Amino acid sequence: MSQHLTTVYHPLIQHNLTLLRDGTTSTPQFRRLLREISLVMAAEATRDLPMTTRRIETPLEPMEAPVLEGRAPVLVSILRAGNGLLDGLLEVVSEADVGFVGLYRDKDTLRPVQYYCKLPDGLDARRVIVVDPMLATGNSSAATVDLLKQAGARDIRFVCLLAAPEGVARMKQAHPDVPIMTAALDRELSDKGYILPGLGDAGDRMYGTK
Ligand code: URA
Repeated sequence: MSQHLTTVYHPLIQHNLTLLRDGTTSTPQFRRLLREISLVMAAEATRDLPMTTRRIETPLEPMEAPVLEGRAPVLVSILRAGNGLLDGLLEVVSEADVGFVGLYRDKDTLRPVQYYCKLPDGLDARRVIVVDPMLATGNSSAATVDLLKQAGARDIRFVCLLAAPEGVARMKQAHPDVPIMTAALDRELSDKGYILPGLGDAGDRMYGTK
């Protein structure tokens, strides 16, 4: 994942993403589809984790076998929609520790306001994968990465489902060292800060709120 933006054109992701976008998809279906997508995204997002080897004994002979190097990665969910991606990633990266960052968007300024932050230790020596399904203005994402860098994180990735060009540009300007992985790069942001064509409010659709 060396380039700044990677779009994952996996057929299972793209098929499920279309169903997620469909406004007639129910909340239980939405959660199921999101979980399925996040399992495949997890495999893609962890493709370049650093590896080393360990000597083990199979039932037949010793071997130098590949294992993940260093401490387990850290997953950071931007509340609350990030949790929809987090669950699938945690199933694949089950040894990960998990941080949560709570930010809400001020309705008038669209700027992020922090209300919660709880992070695991040792961020300076671990891969940190931030998850939020929607990279819209990029303000919450950039603010979260600011927090993580202040806490010592150096190796940070951002994983989302849909990205707006405006959000990608904001992240590139604020954090050019943080690669972004998305399932789709959409057309633009609406004047209310929604991604178009998008899928609506991810948190509301995931949890059945309005
Ligand atoms: N957050 C959402 O949930 N949806 C958008 O379109 C933009 C931000």
